Amino acid sequence: MTPLPKFTISELELDRLQDYEGQIVLLVQEDGRMDVVGRRINKATKGALARFLASKGFEDLEAGKVMTLSYPTGLMARAVSLAKIDRNCTQGAARSCGVEIAKASVSERFIIACSKFKRISDLIEGMALRNYEYLDQKSDAAPKPFDVEVMGADALEQKAEIEAKLAVLEGVFFTRDLTNAPANVLTTSHFAEQLVALSDLGLEVEVLEEAELEKLGMRTLLCVGQGSDSPSKVVVMRWTGGGEEAPFALVGKGVVFDTGGISLKPAGGMEDMTMDMGGAGVVAGVMKALAQRDAKANVVGVVGLVENMPSGNAVRPGDVIKSMKGDTVEVINTDAEGRLVLADILWYTQERFAPSGMINLATLTGAIIIGLGHEMAGVFSNDDKLSKDFITAATAEGEGAWRMPLAPAYDKMLKSRIADMKNVGTRAAGSITAGQFLQRFVKEDMPWAHLDIAGVASIASESAFAPKGATGWGVRALNRLIADHYETKGEDAPGE
Ligand code: BES
Ligand code: MN
Ligand code: ZN
Repeated sequence: MTPLPKFTISELELDRLQDYEGQIVLLVQEDGRMDVVGRRINKATKGALARFLASKGFEDLEAGKVMTLSYPTGLMARAVSLAKIDRNCTQGAARSCGVEIAKASVSERFIIACSKFKRISDLIEGMALRNYEYLDQKSDAAPKPFDVEVMGADALEQKAEIEAKLAVLEGVFFTRDLTNAPANVLTTSHFAEQLVALSDLGLEVEVLEEAELEKLGMRTLLCVGQGSDSPSKVVVMRWTGGGEEAPFALVGKGVVFDTGGISLKPAGGMEDMTMDMGGAGVVAGVMKALAQRDAKANVVGVVGLVENMPSGNAVRPGDVIKSMKGDTVEVINTDAEGRLVLADILWYTQERFAPSGMINLATLTGAIIIGLGHEMAGVFSNDDKLSKDFITAATAEGEGAWRMPLAPAYDKMLKSRIADMKNVGTRAAGSITAGQFLQRFVKEDMPWAHLDIAGVASIASESAFAPKGATGWGVRALNRLIADHYETKGEDAPGE
């Protein structure tokens, strides 16, 4: 797996800065006031820092941005970077500033020296998120070492917070690696193997093979994979860190490659469909994060791993398939395959685990990209509270999410002449009819949300917190949703 930068936390020892040969990062208040660290660097550089802080250059530097002085006189450091940020800044400001620090890196070794800065974990998060690079398929490149020491008055007090954050970041990196991987590498079998390996962290992982899926009646899932030489699989991951309560469920679309099947996609851009397992990737990343930070929650993750290929054995347009629920589906377009996979695993998850709530993630429709672009995922839900809780969590983590409608009029667009439903509507409201299709497999009283992440799972240009390629969107939002609403609070925890 792509490694996280190495972070260490230490007491503020100003004497060590003098001879340090890496890059020193100072956090400077927006009003230019110097703290103890600033005063020491100022003295060592014979007043250069004070002159800079009094300059127009500093006045013009936007809050959260970084300015770098290379080979400063009086110090051994490769560079001193000044990040303009207040001690009591918001979480989002600290995270963005971390991104800027990572962008300004000129050395593999960093000391971030600060006094009384409260948001070290968010700063680190920004740095790590931006520093990611997928190199697994490059023959001549190994991940660059990136060693960050955070040295600060009261930095050690934030250690637990920092460790929890790093646990979640491991999840984000896992999701990004999975989503970036090409389809000849990340086959359904290799995907399942990587999930089974999570059992080392204390997750219970189970792989359901085709024969078992056949017995369960998961024909809509199986029909998607039947044209591929790679076997279809459902993987169940369970984290039982909570009490006796029913688990919360996360369900993911894991199409390792989507050619469209017999309704073949055009050649241009088809290579991007290696990311069509992004939903399953996020579920895997969240499960890993929960295990790494030892979350006090019960969560079950269920992913459907299939490959959508055309072949003599592939499902055809016009075929009628019976789902595990028992409803029949007329497959009009074999490229609307994600919903066929999810239909069966949504039903299976509810039947087997009777969860307290359920969120599914899927790179489901191109139409959501037309609607929301690459900034926000679409949130479709039958439950105002779950939807609001999720969007609040996503917003806090800087991950865009926007509520979209569901309504009976859209559901009508799925009427089939010969079966219980068809798998597509018309071009109009394509993301909503996809959501309506899924809702047919959600029990009436089950709080549920569908996240259409086609626009945000992997992007062609860099975003605020990710380089181009897989973003890991949603891992942090879902981790926070679970932390804020589904964790057993200790006896002495402050009441809600
Ligand atoms: N995996 C695609 C959706 C997608 C498109 C994901 C672009 C990421 C980027 C999905 O399986 C699909 O092909 N959807 C069709 C649905 C249509 C046939 C109703 C689409 O969006 O065109
Ligand atoms: Mn498709
Ligand atoms: Zn797809």
